[in-house]
Amino acid sequence: MSKKASIGVTGLAVMGRNLARNLARHGHTVALHNRSEQRTRDLVEQFGDEGDFIPAYSAQEFVDALERPRQIVIMVKAGAPTDAVIDEFAPLLEKGDVIVDAGNAHFADTRRREAALRERGLHFVGTGVSGGEEGALHGPSIMPGGSKESYESLGPLFEDISAKVDGEPCCTHIGPDGAGHFVKMVHNGIEYADMQLIAESFDLLRGALGHSPAQIADVFRTWNTGRLDSYLIEITAEVLAHTDAATGKPFVDIVTDQAEQKGTGRWTVQTALDLGVPVSGIAEAVFARSLSGSADLRAASRGLPGPSRAPLTGAAAESFADDVERALYASKIVAYAQGFNQIQAGGAEFGWDIDLGAVAKIWRGGCIIRAKFLDDVSAAFAAEPGLPTLLTSGDFRKAVEDAQDSWRSVVATAVRLGIPAPGFSTALAYYDGLRAERLPAALVQGQRDFFGAHTYRRVDREGSFHTAWATSDRPESPA
Ligand code: 6PG
Repeated sequence: MSKKASIGVTGLAVMGRNLARNLARHGHTVALHNRSEQRTRDLVEQFGDEGDFIPAYSAQEFVDALERPRQIVIMVKAGAPTDAVIDEFAPLLEKGDVIVDAGNAHFADTRRREAALRERGLHFVGTGVSGGEEGALHGPSIMPGGSKESYESLGPLFEDISAKVDGEPCCTHIGPDGAGHFVKMVHNGIEYADMQLIAESFDLLRGALGHSPAQIADVFRTWNTGRLDSYLIEITAEVLAHTDAATGKPFVDIVTDQAEQKGTGRWTVQTALDLGVPVSGIAEAVFARSLSGSADLRAASRGLPGPSRAPLTGAAAESFADDVERALYASKIVAYAQGFNQIQAGGAEFGWDIDLGAVAKIWRGGCIIRAKFLDDVSAAFAAEPGLPTLLTSGDFRKAVEDAQDSWRSVVATAVRLGIPAPGFSTALAYYDGLRAERLPAALVQGQRDFFGAHTYRRVDREGSFHTAWATSDRPESPA
């Protein structure tokens, strides 16, 4: 009998192709399938010498090429194309076989698909894969959901091809059904927040100091040798140092300033709204992309008055880059704290038992938000699994304490010069909101009770109360 494949990949656009190659390079025999045959032929022709591939040119041939339990990785566009591929393969599979969706699916779709396939005795694993094309080939961060049983067969393969940090794989079983895609969604939300904060740092350094993109690239390079050491800071320095060949101008100045999005950041915020988790840093990052893309609105508003943008001078100018570094680090802690709170809340809502320390650990390598800082995040959750917020944990608490003056002065400078810094501002406002002894929410409760008899609770007594606002003596009664 001819050799069978331990895993199959269907959908051989660049992500699927690179995952398949990564698996083959690690010694696994990989069955290949694609809707149009040419992609399959191309892969074998170009990369066939990298490992053992079994090309298949029909769904049945693909399924027949697999060892049992069969493990099929689907790498196609999220939404209807994923459902179409599942519908094509599910009838050909048998009890115990595993279908993996490695695309950026919405976790609610993954829950639906998992439930439907479970009824048929099949395992459905929604898995986050982060790291882009290069990651898929050389070692991504992998976030599989689905049943424990499916992870028993799939886990070793995925751990094998994932990125490694200190010899540990950047892959772990996240939790049942949609947990993997949920965590990947929040990863992307954090990615948006991280990118926005970095972009604001650039804008502030340019606006307040008058530095060129190339000079700011040097600042980022320096930051990348310290606690901000991360993939996103590293590539930011490269982008800023890049000169457009056609014009000789800084690359960043010839790119249209309208940031696009495929939707995972938006999903993060939509889900957070449903869960009641204030992920303001991620929300501002999504809104900042929307504002940037509102071309007509921006054109109509361009003449609106604002302050003069005279660059900083003297001591303020000298310390500004260091101030921004501290403000960036503190705001980044806030963004991650919010994201982890969302994972906590999602876990509680959907009955997943997600180990936050393990999530931070597998984000240390391979993924887009990989950063040195995640060592400390994983240590913080490992030391205190029920940690209410990263902000109160040892080193992070100390970092925000040390950042106080810088953080406030950076936000104040942004406001004074009229440089939009929604990420920095919202992070600081969130921080001040969390630590406040009393919030004006008490007044909001009073307003709600006034116009709608919505009732309020008292600080000194149990129960709900309503005040008869319309009567002259305003009697209060338990509601
Ligand atoms: C990753 C990325 C990836 C995402 C892109 C583009 O983890 O490898 O998050 O999944 O699709 O970053 O996202 P936007 O187009 O929404 O910016």
